[in-house]
Amino acid sequence: MEERKELEEIIRCSLKRHLKEPLIIAANWKMNMTILQGKQFAKKLDGIETNHKLLVFPPYTALASLASDFTRNKVGFGAQNMNQKDKGAYTGEISSEMLKEIGCGYVLIGHSERRLYYHETDREINQKVRWAIEEGFKVILCIGETLVEREQENYKEVLKNQLMEDLREINRCEFDNLCIAYEPVWAIGTGKSASLLQIEETHRFIKETLITLYDQRLPILYGGSVNEKNASEIAKKEGVDGFLIGGAGLDADKFISIIKQTENAWNGGEIWNP
Ligand code: PGA
Repeated sequence: MEERKELEEIIRCSLKRHLKEPLIIAANWKMNMTILQGKQFAKKLDGIETNHKLLVFPPYTALASLASDFTRNKVGFGAQNMNQKDKGAYTGEISSEMLKEIGCGYVLIGHSERRLYYHETDREINQKVRWAIEEGFKVILCIGETLVEREQENYKEVLKNQLMEDLREINRCEFDNLCIAYEPVWAIGTGKSASLLQIEETHRFIKETLITLYDQRLPILYGGSVNEKNASEIAKKEGVDGFLIGGAGLDADKFISIIKQTENAWNGGEIWNP
């Protein structure tokens, strides 16, 4: 009973943690954006003032060419995937050394499109997470349930399993380099984000699971049809520490609108009042 009360208190604190901290707002460009389009996007971000931590995940070609544009704007940039081997005969893959050479400090791992279309398993995802952290990257690990899993109400089991398998054998100090993106597969690219209630409840569950399994409080981003219309409402929800944005992150005006709206809420103390 006492133990449960203590756990509740820890979870409560972990949900409030983000209230004092800036949000992490990340755009995942997927297989979109040429170098030229990326440069135009970066130009619109010129001089942007924000308390938030901004991150962009371009395709590999644009990644190398845009490094200086992002650095100028204090925008972090990362890769959408990274191989778990250091080098060798792995046609089509990218290594940590290649990414480090261009100053790339972040990597997305386990995005549902990689799990679904390229059959990435939790075992491979775990190897990638461990290798990326060992190589000095900050990792956003993506997890999320399918529509069937949500409807059958076993999504909590699915998410817990992903957290157990994908974070296997991560050392305590390595968790500092990790952040989780909760992206319900059914909300990605569909224009239909999860409801505020579903987001709040699931983020709480993920925070609670991370505390129970690993005694860790990690930032949790929400991803799945975030746009300039729903971002500020989602940002107000407990346990939401930022966004991973697909479609709306391809349009600089929409991306900036999301930053500004959540910034205003931050400045106005709106998000931060419990
Ligand atoms: P979406 O994609 O914002 O287009 O739904 C999110 C993602 O896949 O990271």
